[in-house]
Amino acid sequence: MSKFQGRHFLQIPGPSPVPDRVLRAMDMPVIDHRSAEFAELGKEVLAGSQKIFQTKNPVIIFPSSGTGAWEAAIVNTLSPGDKVLMVETGHFATLWQKMARRFGIEVEFLSTDWRHGAEPAAIEAKLAADKSHSFKAVMVVHNETSTGVTSRIAEIRKAIDAAKHPALFLVDTISSLGSAEYRHDEWGVDVTVSCSQKGFMLPPGLGFNAISDKAREAAKTNKMPRSYWDWEEMLKPNEGGFFPYTPATNLLYGLKEAVAMLLEEGLDNVFARHKRLAAATRAAVTHWGLEVLCLEPSEYSPVLTAVLMPPGHDADNFRKVVLENYNMSLGAGLSKVAGKVFRIGHLGECNDLTLMGALTGVEMGLSVAGVPHRAGGVNAAMELLEERNATNTPGHLKVVKN
Ligand SMILES: Cc1ncc(COP(=O)(O)O)c(C=O)c1O
Repeated sequence: MSKFQGRHFLQIPGPSPVPDRVLRAMDMPVIDHRSAEFAELGKEVLAGSQKIFQTKNPVIIFPSSGTGAWEAAIVNTLSPGDKVLMVETGHFATLWQKMARRFGIEVEFLSTDWRHGAEPAAIEAKLAADKSHSFKAVMVVHNETSTGVTSRIAEIRKAIDAAKHPALFLVDTISSLGSAEYRHDEWGVDVTVSCSQKGFMLPPGLGFNAISDKAREAAKTNKMPRSYWDWEEMLKPNEGGFFPYTPATNLLYGLKEAVAMLLEEGLDNVFARHKRLAAATRAAVTHWGLEVLCLEPSEYSPVLTAVLMPPGHDADNFRKVVLENYNMSLGAGLSKVAGKVFRIGHLGECNDLTLMGALTGVEMGLSVAGVPHRAGGVNAAMELLEERNATNTPGHLKVVKN
């Protein structure tokens, strides 16, 4: 029996908590995936996904984790021996880079200090110098989940255009889609990679590729062997609402509900809510006297906040104290920042009171773990939430005066 009453606080930056509405929607008998009934569901979720990616082009849904969707993006657009430009924004960019190398891709990997996003000017300079157009793609992680830094995708698109470079633009939105502002078509992205367990508020198990016409054309001539991940194999049956192999039927029921929830709230309101919760989190962190890992205000993540531990204090020990005392999971520091940072997820099914609960757990944990801090961070967050509620909070978060 659990020693805790009440619910577990899952405040990691994904998988994020699954709303009751989505859980109930998935609680269905499995249906025949070759039936007319399934085709209706298939068509609905494929069209619904396009709205979340903000694209008129096809979105492909794989039964996979985000890593599978990364692989699909590579094997459909690139050939062994191709050169790509990537930026080491953190742990996940590093993993995607390793994967590309395994497929025989030559990667030029621009480094950062893991406290800044991909720099549009640096990308422009590299591409402008590449007169022979040897770079076949620019690959960037939008929201680097290991650091809480969000790269400026629209500006990177402008940088590619300013360099007049034909490289494809591949973007990982695994932890940003449905939480941080993202526009596949408007921002001229060729492949957007995503997954189910973060902004979509679903359990893990779906991987997505949104693709441009240019990416689809590249897939017709590229030389990478593939089968399971082949876009054209998917796109043909998708036209009728079907899949070439057994889809994750019940996750698709959940996807239908999650898309409905995001659209009911309105994507702009969803983005504003995440930004506001992130700002409140930073207000608490700053008040505690701790440091936010992200150093560039225009790159603060709306999805999560990575917090640096004071020297001499281990972030994993702190997380353990919080879990054991308050039944809350916080995100671990990964690879280069392991033990040095902890991450507070504020994405998906998260509102003012959920966040206040989470921040209270962090503040109490800091006391119990003996981490030096200034008490009252929770109040600082509360003040920020109250202030913005009274002025410019969108949708259901507005304070209604009777
Ligand atoms: C930005 C980013 N990219 C890729 C991945 C890998 O996705 P998955 O674990 O679903 O394979 C993650 C996982 O958290 C992520 O946050």
